[in-house]
Amino acid sequence: MQMTDYLPLPGTPIEDLDTPCIIVDLDVAESNIAKLQAAANDMGIDVRPHSKTSKSPYWVRKQIEAGAIGVCCAKLGEAEVMVEAGILDVMIPNQVIGTSKIARLIAIAKSANIIVAVEDSGNIDDLSDAAKTAGVELGVIVEVNVGMDRCGVDGHNALDLAKQIESAPGLRFDGLMGYEGHVVAERDFEIRKTEVEKSMGILTGAAQKIRDAEIEVRIVSAAGTGTYNISGRYPGVTELQCGSYIFMDGDYLEVFDDFEPALSVLSTVISRQKKDVAIVDMGLKSISMDRGLAEVISPSNASIMKHSEEHTKIALSDVDSQSLKIGDKVRSRPTHGDTTINLHEHYFGVRNGKLEEVIEIPGRGKFR
Ligand SMILES: Cc1ncc(COP(=O)(O)O)c(C=O)c1O
Repeated sequence: MQMTDYLPLPGTPIEDLDTPCIIVDLDVAESNIAKLQAAANDMGIDVRPHSKTSKSPYWVRKQIEAGAIGVCCAKLGEAEVMVEAGILDVMIPNQVIGTSKIARLIAIAKSANIIVAVEDSGNIDDLSDAAKTAGVELGVIVEVNVGMDRCGVDGHNALDLAKQIESAPGLRFDGLMGYEGHVVAERDFEIRKTEVEKSMGILTGAAQKIRDAEIEVRIVSAAGTGTYNISGRYPGVTELQCGSYIFMDGDYLEVFDDFEPALSVLSTVISRQKKDVAIVDMGLKSISMDRGLAEVISPSNASIMKHSEEHTKIALSDVDSQSLKIGDKVRSRPTHGDTTINLHEHYFGVRNGKLEEVIEIPGRGKFR
């Protein structure tokens, strides 16, 4: 028997899908892709979507068909998945450190245009040595700390690294990136705008300093979903690296409704011992709660009380929800899509209430 034998056939009604599983509303996800691309086209900026959300070449191909110039991957393992699937323009807006990872990076750079972020002079030397030895050209961008205080150099230190990359054999200096992750989920638009403009000021200021030194800065990459229309309008930013917009999640819906929710986790009631509580077959191994408990979207008047590994307790607060029986389905929207998707091997892509396509998630778990 093949591992995939248990997968449902196209045409299966949603309520007959085996659970727990991720459901993606294909119309909604496709419309989110089109909306971001249309907004970017209006703003005159490129889109290089972050695949840390979908972790799937299927979705990246749709984003490229819509007009994206390539893809971002958080991890080398995800980048390998994309290159293997024939997606040959890949940015890793993250540091790749250590001999074995650099060897893997160079291996994919033999067949794809790979751009990697750096913030450290020793790492630049290591990348250059490996690229030169293999006879490949590796694109490099300097990561600037634009206020998130995660990775990245202060803006005024970017020039020294740019000069080092410019003169390093095997490396091609492509530009800068800065991720304003500290403000992407700020609920108040005016505060978000003010903070993002400060961040983009740091990033584009660093780019200007490098240009003043007569070094070309081709790429200035930034933005998450919550800031696409602020960073995207900021003069000097050249591309957007948004990820979550494709499916949205409960957390982002608190920020805005520019994009619509496409993702849910379907589960089945497996126990009904109390009038006002149902137990479903979804637990921490099939839905994440790092940003809080998911919202039950059907039935209404039901809410998640508690997860354990393979079970979830659902409170049923009215007569309708209390009519839920063993075998009935419960649909929940995760608060954080990316970490939920990472738990699954497939999306069940649905349209008009039926399964249209089973979509693989080969980038799941590729965090190395
Ligand atoms: C470096 C980087 N760029 C872009 C994104 C995309 O952000 P979002 O999911 O808000 O669209 C992330 C998200 O974690 C990120 O870490």
